This record gives sequence, structure tokens and C-alpha cells, in this order.
Amino acid sequence: MQEQLENLLTEARAEIAECGGPNDILNLKAKYLGKKSYLNSLYSRMKELEPEQRPAFGNQLNQIRKQIEDFLSTRSTQIKELGWQKSKVEMDPTMPGYPLERGGSHPLSIIRRQIDEVFISMGFEIAEGNDIEDEFHNFDALNTPLDHPSRNLADTFYVEGGKLLRTQTSTVQIRVMENYKPPIKIISPGRCYRNDKPDPSHSPVFHQVEALVVDKGINMSHLQDTLQDFASIMFGPEVKSRIRPHFFPFTEPSAEMDISCVSCRGTGCRICKNSGWLEMGGAGMVDPAVFETLGIDSEIYTGFAFGLGIERIAMLKYNIPDMRILFENDLRMLRQFRGER
Ligand code: PHE
Repeated sequence: MQEQLENLLTEARAEIAECGGPNDILNLKAKYLGKKSYLNSLYSRMKELEPEQRPAFGNQLNQIRKQIEDFLSTRSTQIKELGWQKSKVEMDPTMPGYPLERGGSHPLSIIRRQIDEVFISMGFEIAEGNDIEDEFHNFDALNTPLDHPSRNLADTFYVEGGKLLRTQTSTVQIRVMENYKPPIKIISPGRCYRNDKPDPSHSPVFHQVEALVVDKGINMSHLQDTLQDFASIMFGPEVKSRIRPHFFPFTEPSAEMDISCVSCRGTGCRICKNSGWLEMGGAGMVDPAVFETLGIDSEIYTGFAFGLGIERIAMLKYNIPDMRILFENDLRMLRQFRGER
């Protein structure tokens, strides 16, 4: 019996010292100490002994158990220290995998896609432009005078080769009218850049959706109707819209577009600064001077254009109080916006 016990200990020590992974530790623990282990079966054989021999035997068994436990915990620490990958077993396919996090769309992408869908449902096509543009497409062709403040270095990022980062998606109006004849009915979502300090409502990079409709007989009521349809679909049927006189070099007349506050429904609150209205962007009837530059006969064709701020829409939809949150890429924030709303 004594010999058997010693053999057990030697065997356990050797096997445990050689085992390679956390799963081996569990298996060996079951083998040497578990319910069906040899050691465990010896406990039940105690009653075969003389009563006075039992305590000593029991003690011995307990000590063996304790030693095997020690072997296991020492080996387990070693394995952890060695790094499980470097240990004898290269891969244990029974180990649970590492959780793989799934990515999600950025709130600006989700909203941009929704905006695309709204306009596509209204018969618009999507046109694309470039972020890097020239002065012709960003200013000259848009009837912007040479001394206009927006051309200033303090407002516009100029890059090498007389190029610039477009300050507005209105560049795409020009690109489209250069390449296509009316009827035209496009939107163009994209990034814009202005030399602005980031604050709760400004970011040097931001997004607009441009819309341009050119055909015979287009007038301001088409603009108003399109804006109202967009507002109703995007924010709900109870949301109203309005336009106010404004100025842009490339539209005449020009307007600013508002929708009734989606938070207080027009009664006045913090979000609409108690005005009941939220500014959504600029708009107007395409200035004949723009048509002339591009060889479109302004006696035959008229058109309207507008530019909506995508951040503004995303902030209203997701209740985001500060535009900078959209560009900081803090995952804790972005995770809150996962899933469509
Ligand atoms: N491009 C103008 C802006 O960025 C908005 C605008 C677009 C105005 C189209 C009129 C027509 O402020």
C-alpha cells in the first residue's frame, strides 16, 4: 500500500510537471483528485482498517492530496508565467475564443444614408465631387467676387498647386452643370472644410448635402415644397418649414431655410434658443450669372439649389449637444448611437 501511494505521488508529480495548458491542469486535477480518482477511492476503503489505524491513514491521504494540489497550483502558475502560447501545447482548440467586437456605422454615416434615401425617394440622383477643388469651382463659377471674405486664408484652407479644400458642396453644382444638360435633379452629400475653431456648433471639417434642380419652369415654390417634404419625412409630419431672405453670390433670390423646432415643436426651448425655429442651411434660385458661365440658357432654364448641414441634422436626431462629439471618435459615445433610430 505504501508503495502504491508513493508511486501515485511520483506519477502525479511527473505528469503535472509536463502538462502544457490550463485545460491539462483541469484534467489532471480530475484524474488525481476527482471523485473517480484512485486517491478518492482509498478514502472509502478506510473502514477496512483497524479503527486505531484509521486516523494515521486518513492523515496520510490528506497529505498526499495536499501535495498533489500544490503540484497543480505550481504548474498552473508556471504555465501562466511562460505564456500559454509558448508552452508545450501550441494551440488548444477547446479554449474559448477572444470576443471580437463588431463595428457599427458612425452617426454621421447613418444620417447621411437616411438623407440619401429621402431624396432618392423624391426622384433625386446622387452626384459626387472632390474634397480638393480649385478656385474656379469653389468661388469663381459660383459668382463669388475676388474680394469676398470667404476666399480669405483665415476662412479657406489652401493646398499646393493653387488648390483648396472645398468650403461648400456647391462646387458639385458647377461640376454637374459642366457635364450634364438639364433637366438636372441631383443631391451631393460630402465633406467641407473651413478654417474655424472647433466649438459646440463649428468644426473645421463638416458635412453638407447639396441639392440642385434645373429645368424649364422651376420656381421658388418647388424649393419650398422640397424642403417641406424633406422635413416631414426626416423629422415627422408635424414639423413645419420656412425660408427667410438671405444672400449668397450664386443664388438670386437667396434664402435661409428653417424647420420648426423638433424638440419643443415651435413653442421655444433651449435648443432653438427660444425662437421656435432651427436653421438648416442656405438656398435660393440659381443666379443667371452661374448659368451663363456654364453655357446654360437662363432664358429657358431656371433652377433652385440648397445646402443642408448634416451635423445639425445628426445632432437633432441623436440629441447631441456639442458638434465636437461627432469628431472625437470616443467609442463610449459612438456606442450609444449604434443601431438605427
Ligand atoms: N453653399 C452655401 C453655404 O455653404 C449654402 C447654399 C447652397 C446656398 C446652395 C444656396 C444654394 O453656406
